[in-house]
Amino acid sequence: MVGGVEEHLTVGRVAELAGVSVRTLHHYDEIALVEPSARTAAGYRAYSSGDLERLRKVLAYRRLGFGLREIADLVDDPATDAVAHLRRLRGLLLDQRDRAAAMVTALDRELEARAMGIRTTPEEQLQLFGAQLYEAIGSAYPATRRTEPRIAERVWDALGDARTVLNVGAGTGSYEPPDRDVTAVEPSAVMRAQRPADAAPCVAASAESLPFEDQSFDAAMAFSTVHHWRDPIAGLREMRRVARRVVVFTYDASDIDRRQRFWLTRDYLPEFADLLVDWPSLADLTRAIGGRAEPVLIPWDCADGFFEAYWRRPEAYLDEEVRRAVSVWTRVGPGAERRAVSRLGDDLSSGRWAERNRDLVALDAAELGLRLIVA
Ligand SMILES: C[S@@+](CC[C@H](N)C(=O)[O-])C[C@H]1O[C@@H](n2cnc3c(N)ncnc32)[C@H](O)[C@@H]1O
Repeated sequence: MVGGVEEHLTVGRVAELAGVSVRTLHHYDEIALVEPSARTAAGYRAYSSGDLERLRKVLAYRRLGFGLREIADLVDDPATDAVAHLRRLRGLLLDQRDRAAAMVTALDRELEARAMGIRTTPEEQLQLFGAQLYEAIGSAYPATRRTEPRIAERVWDALGDARTVLNVGAGTGSYEPPDRDVTAVEPSAVMRAQRPADAAPCVAASAESLPFEDQSFDAAMAFSTVHHWRDPIAGLREMRRVARRVVVFTYDASDIDRRQRFWLTRDYLPEFADLLVDWPSLADLTRAIGGRAEPVLIPWDCADGFFEAYWRRPEAYLDEEVRRAVSVWTRVGPGAERRAVSRLGDDLSSGRWAERNRDLVALDAAELGLRLIVA
């Protein structure tokens, strides 16, 4: 309140403060979930402190994976006052934290077992990877994961004149082409709940068993997801079955020499190699859909914070937020992560990193094994 007159905030300022898009706020207004209680003289939306409190509750429930209709019922429940909401949110967050902690423990157990040469059963592995992993780590994803326009352009070009597109392992939809009729497939409820309000419709399913008739789409795409699938070859064959064209952005796990070229895995995180042991080779992936693979260079200022994105910005890997949005760091386990980050921090302070990686400063894009398979 300023001088007895309540201050209102514009939609742009609210979007900035809350970390959501203006489009999301407009959508919440249209469906009467969060309606700004006033308008400026020029007719623009203006949010009061009461509106902001309601928005805060809505966003907190959204991040916990609730659908918009359920949220409307929750925040409009006359039996629940502000304190009861905070208590309920706190309880739900503690549940989520416990689930993440259980997941980390399970991963540690599997890593220990592997280090001792004991192989876990497929049932045990299923509990750790794929969509289950994203149920635990997915809420950290949107902080740094977003569309990299130069790579998106390559994917969209590869889709050719496809009008209907299936996006498999869609996550928050970063690479969905805006000008086509897109259907998304995403098994993790946490990831589905973080899709923007105006994103393409999303089906809860897995790549290995796509719930669509043969040849239902002009094209099917999969971006940075194949290595999470329980059975990548089966998933790619499913994409081939339901679409005439297939476009996959993935990593070539077979070229060990090149892997040695990325300073992060070569000098700080050799455990990365262990994760690749069970991955099919690029040749196997390509064969499954009958396509050809093209290298995709990673620009030095890549906007999407995937594992290799910060190859010329090493300080970024010291940032917990950056690491939590990349599954590799959870998969290698807390011990390896701590050691890698601490050594990198030391080498950055002492100038050793700069000395060893002098050549990188002159490069605008790097070949780090990322591939676009087009079939
Ligand atoms: C690194 S994210 C990539 C998301 C999105 N394609 C992007 O580029 O932002 C990997 C996604 O694959 C999903 N995933 C895991 N197992 C899957 C499966 N068997 N079938 C389809 N998607 C799967 C995860 O839930 C997660 O959302």
